Amino acid sequence: MSHIQIDNLTKIYVGRRTQPRTMHDPEEHSGDNVLVLNNINLAFEEGEMVCILGPSGCGKSTLLRIIAGFEAPTYGTVKVGGRKVRGPSDQSIFVFQHSGLYPWMTVYENVGLGLRHIDDEEDKHSRIQEHVEMVELEGFEHYYPHQLSGGMQRRAELARAIAVNPDLLIMDEPFSGLDFLTHMKMREEVVNMHEFLRKTTLVVTHDIDDALIMGDRIVVLSGRPSAIKLVHVLDFPRPRNFEKDPGLSRLRSEIFLMLGVPYAV
Ligand SMILES: Nc1ncnc2c1ncn2[C@@H]1O[C@H](COP(=O)(O)OP(=O)(O)O)[C@@H](O)[C@H]1O
Ligand SMILES: [Mg+2]
Repeated sequence: MSHIQIDNLTKIYVGRRTQPRTMHDPEEHSGDNVLVLNNINLAFEEGEMVCILGPSGCGKSTLLRIIAGFEAPTYGTVKVGGRKVRGPSDQSIFVFQHSGLYPWMTVYENVGLGLRHIDDEEDKHSRIQEHVEMVELEGFEHYYPHQLSGGMQRRAELARAIAVNPDLLIMDEPFSGLDFLTHMKMREEVVNMHEFLRKTTLVVTHDIDDALIMGDRIVVLSGRPSAIKLVHVLDFPRPRNFEKDPGLSRLRSEIFLMLGVPYAV
């Protein structure tokens, strides 16, 4: 059984428009309905890291929100661990996303957010400390988010997500807004963390290089209404390097072409 099974998933956002745009608006009776995901069938296996690529606005975040149970499918089903997703799951899923830290809480408090249910203070403290150290933030436990660099904030978010020991880690554009070097370093840390923890991890990105360097598999979505364009296993050895691996750079060129940007090749 796959960890996540997506069958015939379609998502239509229903618009609220009541006034027709023109007298003879052909869409008059459909309002502003937007077909975002069009009959998606996918399965994600236990422990794999899958990178989902697609142009902006194609529905990547929508797909993640549906898997996480924050949004309902219009048609079709999503099952996690064999059970149909009916709403957000508190323990098994944690969404790691940009600017998710609470500004009024310290690094220590933010990392401990998902551990409030642990009564044993000593146990809780060591879990927090272990994860603070894992992302190399020791010494910064009592800093507030605004006192940290962008990369440190992102590492604190990662520690918070992993501290709850989720079965599934969902990341929506985890490196957006980071400077180049921090982006590279963070990417490497997420790869190392995945090698170590082997949690099922879904990473949405619009960065082809991120997807090819990180993923055990990639899924490429077309523009809206999104359908699956490509599912590809990446069995290139790690650490991956475009210069040293001609197969990897060939695949990168093919995906650029597929996404309609031949000039980037
Ligand atoms: N809550 C919503 N209500 C209506 N339309 C939405 C909503 N969320 C997203 N959309 C629309 O759905 C499309 C896909 O959005 P999104 O999933 O955020 O794309 P991506 O993450 O790939 O950039 C966009 O056209 C967006 O405007
Ligand atoms: Mg998005």
